[in-house]
Amino acid sequence: MTLERFRDERGLLSRAGEIAERIRSLIDGDSKLLVICHVDADGLSSGAIISAALLRENARFVTRAVGEFEDALRHLRDLPASYIPILVDMGSGYLSELSSLSLSRPIIVLDHHEPMGSAPEGVVQLNPHLHGVNGSEEVSGAGIAYLVAKALNEENILLSPLAVTGALGDLQDRADGRSLHGFNERIVEDAVKAGLLKVEEDLLFYGRSSKPIHIAMASTMNPFIVGISGNEANAYSLLTEIGVKVREDDKWRVLSELSEGEKRQLYNGILKYLASLGLPPSTARELIGKVYELIMEESWTYLRDAREFASLLNACGKTGNEWLGISIAMGSRGVMLEEAQRILEDYRRRLAEAMEYAMRDENRQELKNLLVIDGGSVIDDRLISSVASMMSSMGVQGDKRILVALAQSEDSIKVSARASRKIVERGVDLGKLLAGVAEIVGGRGGGHDVAAGASIPKTRKALFLLELDRAVEEELSKVG
Ligand code: C5P
Ligand code: ZN
Repeated sequence: MTLERFRDERGLLSRAGEIAERIRSLIDGDSKLLVICHVDADGLSSGAIISAALLRENARFVTRAVGEFEDALRHLRDLPASYIPILVDMGSGYLSELSSLSLSRPIIVLDHHEPMGSAPEGVVQLNPHLHGVNGSEEVSGAGIAYLVAKALNEENILLSPLAVTGALGDLQDRADGRSLHGFNERIVEDAVKAGLLKVEEDLLFYGRSSKPIHIAMASTMNPFIVGISGNEANAYSLLTEIGVKVREDDKWRVLSELSEGEKRQLYNGILKYLASLGLPPSTARELIGKVYELIMEESWTYLRDAREFASLLNACGKTGNEWLGISIAMGSRGVMLEEAQRILEDYRRRLAEAMEYAMRDENRQELKNLLVIDGGSVIDDRLISSVASMMSSMGVQGDKRILVALAQSEDSIKVSARASRKIVERGVDLGKLLAGVAEIVGGRGGGHDVAAGASIPKTRKALFLLELDRAVEEELSKVG
């Protein structure tokens, strides 16, 4: 369990201020900086926030996005002595690895993952957990990067929408009604105050005021609706069946044009559809909540809805186009945006295929405390984390089991695990469990209480699963 710490938001802000000062003195001293971020939506948002802030200060820097901490370590080992590294959205879970580098220069770590151990000398860390603020659900890596950026220059309030995007990318909209809560609310307030964000309650289909309804439904991946997400034709027939008019005269209607009555009709129709597939109604509940609308973005783009912006960044990151994601997050538009939108469409199609595979009974295995989805080498290992998040948002594992999704990469097996809030409340902390069990089988893992990952040797799958099952059992038996 997380060590309870006194909540000290002021302490968090003042630490951000200190680190901003440190960065300023590095810039003033003409140091070169290397920003290393993670390739998921929160990681790219964090990388873009720090890069944009450094650019504003005319700093000399390079930014790199990496998929695994191993890759970050490699960059750090090879780093020319003249560079100071800044790790964003990563690092706190691997403090001992950082200490083993014994670099003769400081390493700045801006992260929201639970710190594993204490920071070794030379590591300058900003982490919400150290100030009693829960980084798993109330502030993301992008939020932490944003605090430093804002302390560096008030003008960086313009980057607040990216911090909101990062938090949504890390699925921190877990308060009732799919809203961001806790520390994230402060950031939302900044974005609203800066005239960049509007928050409204509605059905959460992507492109609700820009796309024909069936396309909006098919574009929505979170929550994932089996048969509808990624499938426009099915979405169209479901709408016809429910009796919601998709056209008015010659024009496609958009979701925001529907009357309250029609929205209710649509919602109830989806509930019925899910029941017909034997799926819990919880997925439909995930469809109603706060919409975070980035009002300065063109309404026809995938950037207008912050959740969809996060999907776009994620798609860029998971397809080797991280540089494109970062430059869009930093403000590039035009042909770059067109390219990224194409990548997202393609990614959605592949994700829908992967989900169909994952939903098949023959690819599932049930252990006492685990529901295992084995993507083998059919599901791309870069998609497995999204598959795990979506399956978990559908509640397929229930409240008694952990969801574990596996996919084979070239030389290892990538593991993504997800837990329900209920099981976490019973004492299960996936980040710690995966770190421990991965180590037993010669792999490496970590993450948050509700979402964690690992990379393990190819030959150790069975042992890993048995050990994880046993470890979960042990945690659960402690509380009885
Ligand atoms: O990859 P996935 O999305 O399943 O990872 C969930 C969380 O676990 C992420 O926050 C990621 O940074 C963390 N993780 C980790 N070490 C790994 C794999 C994932 O700390 N080897
Ligand atoms: Zn993150």
